Amino acid sequence: MIACALVMGLATSAAAAPAGDPIAGKSVFAKCAPCHSVIADQNRIGPTLSGIVGGKAGTVTNYAYSPALKASGIIWTMPELDAYLANPRARVPGTRMFFAGLSKAEDRANLIAFLAKPQ
Ligand code: HEC
Repeated sequence: MIACALVMGLATSAAAAPAGDPIAGKSVFAKCAPCHSVIADQNRIGPTLSGIVGGKAGTVTNYAYSPALKASGIIWTMPELDAYLANPRARVPGTRMFFAGLSKAEDRANLIAFLAKPQ
């Protein structure tokens, strides 16, 4: 019993850490693709996500952001992306990204791994 709880605890914390599988992340990206591209300069309803990991929020050229996101001052580190993708409007109240969020930590980790290295 104790060993089992320990293993489950470890599994949970591993899933919460953003060290995901980019191949699995590519299929999660299907949820973002109607609004986002990972090709540089290709904005859709949302800004391109090319180079997003480590980038500054609200700085893609030729994209009209919400004042909220532009003023957020966020640097898109993996933990920041994780928080935004879990619940965009909780992390940045007033964001125009109308997306409910990804509830599964594993999906977010895989997706962020894909965004770090889209292929
Ligand atoms: C319904 C369209 C839509 C969907 C689906 C969507 N987004 Fe967005 N996203 C937007 C819009 C619009 C913005 C700009 C928000 C703003 O200006 O407040 C945005 C902004 C972002 C930003 C901030 C970009 C920057 O330059 O600072 C990130 C990161 C992001 N989205 C990631 C994702 C990911 C990853 C997914 C899939 C899980 C996703 N989005 C799904 C529309 C969408």
